[in-house]
Amino acid sequence: MFFDPAEGMRPPPFVHSVFTALVVPRPIGWISTISAGGVVNLAPFSYFNAVTGDPPCVMYCPNGLKPGTGEIKDSVANAEATGEFVFNLCTYDLREQMNTTSVHAPADVDEMRDAGLEPAPSEVVAPPRVAAAPVALECRHLQTVRLPKSRRGAPNHIVIGQVVGVHISEDVISGGMVDIARLRPVARLGYLDYAVIEPENVFSLPRPE
Ligand SMILES: Cc1cc2nc3c(=O)[nH]c(=O)nc-3n(C[C@H](O)[C@H](O)[C@H](O)COP(=O)(O)O)c2cc1C
Repeated sequence: MFFDPAEGMRPPPFVHSVFTALVVPRPIGWISTISAGGVVNLAPFSYFNAVTGDPPCVMYCPNGLKPGTGEIKDSVANAEATGEFVFNLCTYDLREQMNTTSVHAPADVDEMRDAGLEPAPSEVVAPPRVAAAPVALECRHLQTVRLPKSRRGAPNHIVIGQVVGVHISEDVISGGMVDIARLRPVARLGYLDYAVIEPENVFSLPRPE
């Protein structure tokens, strides 16, 4: 089948918007920021990825408005106000807390604390890390790209940052490499589905000469 997305992302026979099921799996950027007033914010973004290796840069995409408000999401407002954010890696053990932090909380609510997560201080930037996350990337905000608005007129953003500090738990390092079996990262699929990377599903492919 073929369809024009200008008509919406749920043409027959689809019963839900199909877009998130088409670009899969997606890594989850679990992004901590801090407001100008010092309130910690934590939220997951599956429109997230690493975009360059040297220097290392990542991006996440806070799209739409906070429901019932005319406000942009805290994760973009805070990154722009303070110039900093932290990527925390979501593991299988942290999946429920990650989901909890997707709640649309007012800007004065500390979502890290509300989800029962222990903060750990960052080295270079002000937003704390999720202590239980085995990987955290401290980032400085480089640029926000404003994308075309939604059909309802809501703003869409790409927030790009440069990694200025890297945390890796000793627990996930073995043989001079990050051990995916110990990391157990969670990926986002379509709808409300997720996947966890288990070692039996990992394979290597030598690059062609
Ligand atoms: C797994 C997962 C992935 C999500 N990915 C995105 C995303 O890429 N972009 C987005 O705008 N919202 C996404 N959301 C919803 C946000 O987490 C939610 O809007 C959150 O409240 C934003 O928080 P903030 O206002 O504190 O920034 C996702 C939610 C979940 C559970």
